[in-house]
Amino acid sequence: MKIGNLDFGQYPLFLAPMEDVTDESFRLMCKEFGADMVYTEFVSSDALVRNINSTTRKLNIHDEERPVAIQIYGRFVDAMVEAARLCEAAHPDVLDINFGCPVKKVAGKGAGAGMLRDIPLMLKITRAVVDAVKIPVTVKTRLGWDQDSRIIVELAEQLQDCGIAALTIHGRTRSQMYTGEADWTLIGEVKNNPRMHIPIIGNGDVTTPQIAKEKFDRYGVDAVMVGRASFGCPWIFKEMKHYLLTGELLPPLTIHEKMEALRRQMLESVARLDEHRGILHIRRHLAATPLFKGIPNFRETRIAMLQADTVESLTAILDRIEYEILPNQPV
Ligand SMILES: Cc1cc2nc3c(=O)[nH]c(=O)nc-3n(C[C@H](O)[C@H](O)[C@H](O)COP(=O)(O)O)c2cc1C
Repeated sequence: MKIGNLDFGQYPLFLAPMEDVTDESFRLMCKEFGADMVYTEFVSSDALVRNINSTTRKLNIHDEERPVAIQIYGRFVDAMVEAARLCEAAHPDVLDINFGCPVKKVAGKGAGAGMLRDIPLMLKITRAVVDAVKIPVTVKTRLGWDQDSRIIVELAEQLQDCGIAALTIHGRTRSQMYTGEADWTLIGEVKNNPRMHIPIIGNGDVTTPQIAKEKFDRYGVDAVMVGRASFGCPWIFKEMKHYLLTGELLPPLTIHEKMEALRRQMLESVARLDEHRGILHIRRHLAATPLFKGIPNFRETRIAMLQADTVESLTAILDRIEYEILPNQPV
């Protein structure tokens, strides 16, 4: 499947955009483990236009993570157009527009999934952004605002008519937030609509290699996007990719390979931010990693790990986990 001139080959797997999660260091790890495209966390168009430092920093991308998409959100046409141009100057491969964020501070103000209640404005913004830049523009959205307005089949055609290069659909409504199960039937309907010709990227609850395969086979999507299952687990892309391409499960990575990945992510994160912010960032992944789930009597170590505030103290704790605690776990 292709987005613009980018050819993703068979069974493309994308890392979902996630606020406070998909920073440069994590994107690099996911890329290394086989993610075919990675996305920045969403970037506020208003803050970009006002040149807010912490926001412009989110445009930092690295050649090693390519292809990479920068995602923007907002509800004002002019700000979105200006932000799109600022993003293009940072040379991402793709510019993605977020029409799916359900959180109150975004959707409540009419941006993100809030745009699902003002389709004419959504289409106006999309058209204006597509016209403003030369790189491919894509959209990520949900099924609709709520159960009674699951408009995605018609909306997908309208967005396609605006000139977008691909569409990502998270199989939930705004009202569902992150609850319940993602419903892929409408994603399949969009994909099977003979009027649609742009690639459709399916998203929601893809947590294992087998589920990823089922989504490709059953719904015919062109790519699958993985979000939460990647927290503290960038190697999931390697496991999924291997299964998709061979039909066989990869033998599990060793504890040392997984610990090495988390350690490298910490060091990248610190190198790219600073010690304080780099460690804050990696904490989210350490708290969520499946590697430390179900270890008996782990509570104290876990608290110490999540409170460590220097690379030295965190490294000492990770060493203890790797060489003393994990090897003694029943397999
Ligand atoms: C912590 C967190 C932050 C997120 N931030 C964004 C974001 O910045 N932009 C976006 O389009 N979606 C965002 N999402 C939604 C994910 O991209 C994805 O659509 C959703 O988690 C469903 O996929 P999953 O079931 O694989 O996690 C976020 C989700 C989470 C859990």
